[in-house]
Amino acid sequence: MRTMKAVCIYRYGGPEVLVYEDAPKPHPDTGEILVRVHAAGINPVDWKIREGELKEMLKHTFPLVLGWDVSGVIESIGTGVTRLKVGDEVYSRPDIARDGAYAEYIVMKESDAAVKPKSIDHIHAAALPLAALTGWQTLFDAASLTAGQRVLIHAAAGGVGHIAIQLAKWKGAHVIGTASEHNHDFVRKLGADQIVDYDTEKFEEVVQPVDVVLDTQGGDVQLRSWKVIKPGGILVSIAQPPSAEVASAHGVRSAFVFTQPNAGQLGEVAKLVDADKLKAVVETTLPLSDATRGQELSERGHTRGKIVLRVI
Ligand SMILES: NC(=O)c1ccc[n+]([C@@H]2O[C@H](COP(=O)([O-])OP(=O)(O)OC[C@H]3O[C@@H](n4cnc5c(N)ncnc54)[C@H](OP(=O)(O)O)[C@@H]3O)[C@@H](O)[C@H]2O)c1
Repeated sequence: MRTMKAVCIYRYGGPEVLVYEDAPKPHPDTGEILVRVHAAGINPVDWKIREGELKEMLKHTFPLVLGWDVSGVIESIGTGVTRLKVGDEVYSRPDIARDGAYAEYIVMKESDAAVKPKSIDHIHAAALPLAALTGWQTLFDAASLTAGQRVLIHAAAGGVGHIAIQLAKWKGAHVIGTASEHNHDFVRKLGADQIVDYDTEKFEEVVQPVDVVLDTQGGDVQLRSWKVIKPGGILVSIAQPPSAEVASAHGVRSAFVFTQPNAGQLGEVAKLVDADKLKAVVETTLPLSDATRGQELSERGHTRGKIVLRVI
């Protein structure tokens, strides 16, 4: 088979630029693996790239296959691949500068893939890599979160937030999350110790000082977050680079994280999932041919957990 079904874009724009079509099946080069995609997670970065938001940074060429969260089975390997083998079930947040996973096949570097958690199906595995790596790299790498610390997670019911709550609880932190009222039970069951209804309460008025803020919103939410951080604490943003001057004026630290592929961290995440310490919640599953609908749902900004495309 020389072609595969894929969802591509030929130009930047709204959901109407997504095309479900026959595309060339890729081949693995040195150090790369060809993965038969079983499921592909949808993330806000997919439609931000579709709209051209990251075009200066990523310099993609067209046609471009979207989607950078994947679970599937290795079909073939290039020379120099030694850790993984044909038939392995793997999951990954592959290189965002290359073609993505809204497709029947994807080629990625072996170093970007890890064996998927054994206790969950491909749909749930595809919901994990980007959100779990983001939680890991913000809370553990950037903020060095430790047991007993207090962390405020904005958008706790979303793709990143619902995983970050569980990672922070596993570390032994006290977790505060913001969510609208209809998501409070959901967030509480994932382990949040305190929930702030961002529609009716000002978090800076009801949250006692925290060691770490995970800012998923930027803008006004980031500005108001400085006030709730203890001296020496840290604001880590994934939404908008925080000002080092403003951080310094508040006596706190700041960091911006752009999530990177990391097979070692995905291996640790798989262990947590298989030990029943971490789970991805999938709110909506759609066929690959419905990627447009999936992105439209994601763009509404109120996803509970994750949206995943079923490819097989
Ligand atoms: N820098 C990076 O590498 C990186 C990595 C991952 C994600 N991101 C970015 O981080 C953001 C979050 O990603 P995500 O995947 O978690 O998105 P998501 O799944 O689309 O987030 C949806 C959630 O956001 C909540 N929400 C919306 N407005 C809110 C507000 N003002 N306060 C608190 N919660 C609010 C909604 O909760 P309710 O329904 O309760 O309102 C919903 O549960 C996106 O902008 C994404 O692009 C960046």
